[in-house]
Amino acid sequence: MKLGVLDSSNLTGGQQLAVKYYTVAVVLFGAQILFGLFAGLQFLAPEFGYNVLDFSVNRMVHVNAMIVWMLYGFIGAIYWLVEEEAGTELVGLKLGNLAFWVLTAAVTVVVLVYLFVQTGPGEIESIWFINEGREYIEAPRWADIGIVVCLLVFFYNVAATFMKGKWSGISGVLVFDLVAVAGLYLAGMFYTTNVSVEQYWWWWVIHLWVEATWEVLIGCIMAWGLIKTLGASRKIVTTWLYIEVALMLGAGILGLGHHYFWIGTPEYWFTVGGFFSALEPVPLVAMVVHAVYDSGVHRFKNTNHPALAWLIAHAFGNFFGAGVFGFMHTLPQVNLYTHGTQWSSSHGHFAFFGAYATINIAMFYIALQKWRGNVYMSAGLADNGWKWKWALGLLNMGVVGMTMALLVSGYEQAFVERALGGSTWAAYFAAQNSVWFIQGMLWREIFGLMTAAGFGLLVWDLVTIGRTETRSMLIPAEAAKAAA
Ligand code: HEM
Ligand code: HEM
Ligand SMILES: [Fe+2]
Repeated sequence: MKLGVLDSSNLTGGQQLAVKYYTVAVVLFGAQILFGLFAGLQFLAPEFGYNVLDFSVNRMVHVNAMIVWMLYGFIGAIYWLVEEEAGTELVGLKLGNLAFWVLTAAVTVVVLVYLFVQTGPGEIESIWFINEGREYIEAPRWADIGIVVCLLVFFYNVAATFMKGKWSGISGVLVFDLVAVAGLYLAGMFYTTNVSVEQYWWWWVIHLWVEATWEVLIGCIMAWGLIKTLGASRKIVTTWLYIEVALMLGAGILGLGHHYFWIGTPEYWFTVGGFFSALEPVPLVAMVVHAVYDSGVHRFKNTNHPALAWLIAHAFGNFFGAGVFGFMHTLPQVNLYTHGTQWSSSHGHFAFFGAYATINIAMFYIALQKWRGNVYMSAGLADNGWKWKWALGLLNMGVVGMTMALLVSGYEQAFVERALGGSTWAAYFAAQNSVWFIQGMLWREIFGLMTAAGFGLLVWDLVTIGRTETRSMLIPAEAAKAAA
């Protein structure tokens, strides 16, 4: 292993596949930010892109790019860890590579159709070939089916690898969770003309993904990440994982009810949704305690500072973005006023970034370290590591800034449109034109630019970090073994 050189022979087969997924993930993350900036600009200059790239299109590309890049990141993370965790080589590597290319080609076609075809007549063909019209999972049906097939390949690879090698607490939870992630996607694939029924099932994917199965998934990745970056004890980490999963599923599944307040479902959802979703922050507190405890026990000593910093950003981002900002509007008494305002968008940005962007970025850094021949990536990095530190700062401050700006706009909507105006059409426009609302939109765009700057720096750092590094992360005995 030559230190500092980006060499794929430093990686196992599964890990080489993982970095392919990561590469696409970073590209799509960039697309997400670009189209977010377009959509944000349209709040300030509504004529921008009119009839060429309408708000609806920008918004769709923005949120779909996000879902897809995060899924790519997760798949990459699992391919990254599966061989080491199972103690054997990846089963079905060739098939996995094929699935990667098929999936990536499909994603490319879908994005091009979103951008150039955009909409079709209200017929079933549009659902099959243009888009299915379900926010976040708009992929047309042909692509839906392709996605399911590629994910089945992925599932087979992962499960078969653990079956061939050995199981652990983490891998058991992981495989069980992957069944649920894939299974729930099916709930968003059929079509009904009844909007209430349509929404009812759509939330099975959206809510149960991000507040149950994705949380469990990143619980597994986090557990593994803490073992790898800090050398945390597997026994302790696994115990935490079980507790977190039990709490997460306990509150998250019935917490689904907080989306059933106003869509025409029975009234008992007020009580069920209000009560259980209010408990959802509890496991998120456990996750912060867990991460900080582990780091403290190891005195934050590790060989990959950027990765650990992003893991900690994840623990806090998940707690504040999902837990605190979710809790704020989860009781029906509050949600009556805040539902569907920029308040929701404020929480949506903070939660997705805080919980999921962060941990993916941590895994990118873990991958780069090994890709560059296990270089040391802690104190004393070239240029004092200013790039990763500034990227961390700008991205987090950018997103928190957007969150606060959106909260101001959302607060104003809840007050002017809902509380004072009683949710009339006229009140809606009064709220949209109020100076507080517009200022919030302006500041969102400014902080969005800060986020974009942070992203640019992150990419720059990812391609350069460790390049001139001459120290190995391995302790001498291990280094000798690795060199042999
Ligand atoms: C990482 C986890 C989470 C993510 C990524 C997330 C993301 C989102 C997003 C994007 C929306 C907007 C959905 C739409 O388009 O209508 C939303 C809505 C909502 N979230 Fe979360 N969320 C998370 C966790 C939570 C938690 C833990 C709670 C409560 C404790 C919560 C409470 C809510 C509520 C009540 C709404 C509905 C807002 C409305 O009525 O408009 N969320 N969430
Ligand atoms: C970098 C600058 C960004 C800008 C300017 C931006 C702008 C926007 C805009 C204008 C919307 C549509 C909101 C609406 O319909 O009223 C939106 C939605 C959304 N964005 Fe962003 N965004 C940015 C970055 C991000 C990032 C980094 C994430 C998460 C990782 C994210 C996650 C979301 C989500 C989840 C929604 C849907 C929210 C909802 O349904 O309430 N965005 N964004
Ligand atoms: Fe939810």
